[in-house]
Amino acid sequence: MRSRLDKLLANAGYGSRRDVKRLLRSGAVTVAGERALDPAREVDPETEPVEVAGSPAPVGQSHYLMMNKPAGVVTSTDDPVNETVMSLLRAPWSAMALFPVGRLDLDTEGLLVLTDDGPLTHRLTSPRSGVDKTYYVELRDPVSDADLPLFVELFRSGVAFRDGYVCLPARLARAALPRPGVDPARAVEVTIQEGKHHQVKKMMKVIGNEVAYLKRVAMGELSLDPALASGEYRELSADEVAALRSV
Ligand code: URA
Repeated sequence: MRSRLDKLLANAGYGSRRDVKRLLRSGAVTVAGERALDPAREVDPETEPVEVAGSPAPVGQSHYLMMNKPAGVVTSTDDPVNETVMSLLRAPWSAMALFPVGRLDLDTEGLLVLTDDGPLTHRLTSPRSGVDKTYYVELRDPVSDADLPLFVELFRSGVAFRDGYVCLPARLARAALPRPGVDPARAVEVTIQEGKHHQVKKMMKVIGNEVAYLKRVAMGELSLDPALASGEYRELSADEVAALRSV
C-alpha cells in the first residue's frame, strides 16, 4: 500500500514528522536506490525499498506494545480532559500512529495492547472474535464459600443485565494471588469473551456486589508481564505477537 514517505519513516521510529523532514533534507534517505528528498512522496514499501544511511529502513511494518495501564488515564488517542494512554509513550513510539486495542475504564488497570495493526485490532475487538479477557477483581464485599459455586454457575450460564441483555458464558473463580493485605474472599478472577461497556462492573452488580479494584491480566494467550510497573510498557516479543494473531 502506498503512503507518504514522511509518515512511513515516522511510523518506523525515525522521530517526529519534523525530525523526518530534517532527515530527508540531509539526503540520507533513498527509495528504490534513488535519493529521496520529498516528504510527500508516495511510496509502496513492498516494491520500493527504503534505506536510511545505507541500511534498510523497517518501513511498513506493524508495531506492538504491551502496557500496564495505570488508573486515571483514558484509553483513547486524545481526550479534552484527562491524560491518555498515548501520553505515556516516549520516542520513538510517541511519533508513531499507534492506537489502543479495545478499551479499559479510567479506573481500570492492567494489560493494554497498543499497535498500528488495524486488521488485527479489528479481529481482537470484534464482538464475534470470542477472545478471552481475564480480569483480577477485588470486590466490595467478601464472597462466602457457600455463595461462590452459585455465582460460578450463574456466570457460566450467562449473567442477565437489567436491560435484558444476557452475557456470554464467563468463568469466575477465586483469585489465585490476591494483592497483599486483601481479604482473599474479596478477590476473584473473571474471564469474559465480550467487551461491553463496564461489563465486569455490571456483572458484579447483578450478584449484589461492587467492583472496588479491576485489573486486566490476560487477553487471549497474552498475559500481562508482571515485571511491568504501572504505567510502563514494552514491545511484544515475536512469540507474543504470534499468540495474539492465533485467535
Ligand atoms: N469491564 C469493566 O467493567 N471495565 C473495564 O474497564 C473492563 C471490563
